[in-house]
Amino acid sequence: MDSLEVLKQEYIQKYSDRKLVFGEGKTSGGIMLIGEAPGGEEEKMGRPFVGKAGKNLDEFIELAGLKRKDLYITNVVKFRPTSVSEKTGKPINRTPSREEIEEFVPLLKKEISTYKPYLIVTLGNVPLKAVTGNNRLAIGDCHGSIIEQEGLNIYPLYHPASVIYNRNLKNIYASDVKNIKKYIHS
Ligand code: URA
Repeated sequence: MDSLEVLKQEYIQKYSDRKLVFGEGKTSGGIMLIGEAPGGEEEKMGRPFVGKAGKNLDEFIELAGLKRKDLYITNVVKFRPTSVSEKTGKPINRTPSREEIEEFVPLLKKEISTYKPYLIVTLGNVPLKAVTGNNRLAIGDCHGSIIEQEGLNIYPLYHPASVIYNRNLKNIYASDVKNIKKYIHS
């Protein structure tokens, strides 16, 4: 078993009471998309970005002239972080805590070193901070241009879900996505 698989097995054991959602897609030398954490639909299906945010992500993929099968798609945190809705008493998605993020960073780093992507696209603040290790970076200040760090090319994009909730971001997001084309090669 390779070391990534060993690490995954460790998390599966540790979180035996939760359903983990691991990355999927092209497994070497391509583009890696990194989200925050799975939501309810992702948890149900056991696959990243298959719910509402996934639909927006598919639009991005198409606009960038890519296909889902050309990409490796993953999340920083591999379980669905939830809190209880005061209104309905049902579980709702929440942003992962700093501790939860730190807990899963070693697995993310291992995914990166195993798949050696030539381009990493971070979706929102959580993966931006997790990949760069810089908690002071904010997506609003660095979206749409490349950050080069330790041999990695990181392209920060807004999270596709933030575009659902904030229509003003839609144009910025679309122009960032078009801009990404110059960094993509086949
Ligand atoms: N949002 C994320 O960040 N990741 C998913 O997999 C789904 C929604």
